[in-house]
Amino acid sequence: MRRFVVEKSRNLITRTTRSPCSTCSSPKASSFLVSPRPSYPTSSSSSKPSINSSLRFLAASLLNPPLYCNPLLFPSFMAFNYSTSPLSVETINPKVLRCEYAVRGEIVTLAQELEQDLKKNPGAYPFDEIIYCNIGNPQSLGQQPITFFREVLALCDHPLILDSSETQALFSADAIERAFQILDQIPGRATGAYSHSQGIRGLRDAIAAGIEARDGYPANRDDIFLTDGASPAVHMMMQLLIRSEKDGILCPIPQYPLYSASIALHGGTLVPYYLDEATGWGLEISELKNQLETAKSKGISVRALVVINPGNPTGQVLAEDNQREIVEFCKKEGLVLLADEVYQENIYVPDKQFHSFKKISRSMGYGESDFSLVSFQSVSKGYYGECGKRGGYMEVTGFSPEIREQMYKVASVNLCSNISGQILASLVMNPPKVNIFWT
Ligand SMILES: Cc1ncc(COP(=O)(O)O)c(C=O)c1O
Repeated sequence: MRRFVVEKSRNLITRTTRSPCSTCSSPKASSFLVSPRPSYPTSSSSSKPSINSSLRFLAASLLNPPLYCNPLLFPSFMAFNYSTSPLSVETINPKVLRCEYAVRGEIVTLAQELEQDLKKNPGAYPFDEIIYCNIGNPQSLGQQPITFFREVLALCDHPLILDSSETQALFSADAIERAFQILDQIPGRATGAYSHSQGIRGLRDAIAAGIEARDGYPANRDDIFLTDGASPAVHMMMQLLIRSEKDGILCPIPQYPLYSASIALHGGTLVPYYLDEATGWGLEISELKNQLETAKSKGISVRALVVINPGNPTGQVLAEDNQREIVEFCKKEGLVLLADEVYQENIYVPDKQFHSFKKISRSMGYGESDFSLVSFQSVSKGYYGECGKRGGYMEVTGFSPEIREQMYKVASVNLCSNISGQILASLVMNPPKVNIFWT
């Protein structure tokens, strides 16, 4: 598949390049997909490039690792001789070498190269802009941030303006109210201070309240670890679970490459299970069982199951019955369920609904001591798309106090996650309600 995409891309770019590109002369420099961009009216045609003449650049995400030594992208490094440097690729941690992260890989590197070339030679290609579709980054493509979120952030970051008379006119009343509420929760009312390693207590309370309202089951602030996005939370769990390459993590294929990358970085083994395209990318328990047995027969101790629901890249939304089967499977096999639920707001079909695994497991009668579950959530996705703010959390349930203590210790090594991300996570999980002020 990879080879096919690379080859296809190569052919396309060769066919669509008008004149030789000054920076992309290497054979590698043609691995991308270009397709005609649909024409649609724009409000201003003066500053923007003509849409009709643009071609959409699709940076596919299934390709090889970056071009580490590309002289076109890193010309300054190439001028030096590193032969006496204490580090070489042969002597760094091999786990780092094994780790691949294709969404920021070869195609993206080449796209950046083309972008640079477009600036220098605007007429070199039959398109005049590159649109990065390799990663969900909606604000980079023009999505505007939610006003309420940004107002609260601004007011929390600069509390002096809360006392200014102009603020009432410039900011909404509910944003001002919420900013006061949040600042009251922050020791020293200072967003520039470190917080508790798990995140500000009052913000974790707000998140727990949001989870309770979503699921209809109690949630506890002590179960919440606020993080700089879902990715560091996933890393933290992999660090906790993986002792050696003999430890395996069941992961969906196709998957979001964070999982394969973090398993590789932490030295574990990815145990794949394949989603079934014919059934709308369904997750078959028989497939999980087969893969688990195969892994066991190779001496792999499988420790956890990753489920991405709603799925990326597949977009599937699991049915409740299927979720119950998954919970039973994990319970029977003694697996921690790592539930990536970052796309919980991204459901676009009327007959599907998101149900958290916490809700499903509680509805089955499983409580704190019955089932080990980690749910990942992020401010990067949904209607908010605040990826650059790096906010998220994991809710951990079904772990002993001793394990929680270790989690707390690992979280403490990073001191705390950034405070804007923490505030945003609390807003995402507890957004303003119509005609109701926050309590
Ligand atoms: C399924 C999935 N999980 C996690 C993440 C990482 O999100 P974050 O920006 O919160 O680290 C992404 C990002 O695209 C994703 O698609």
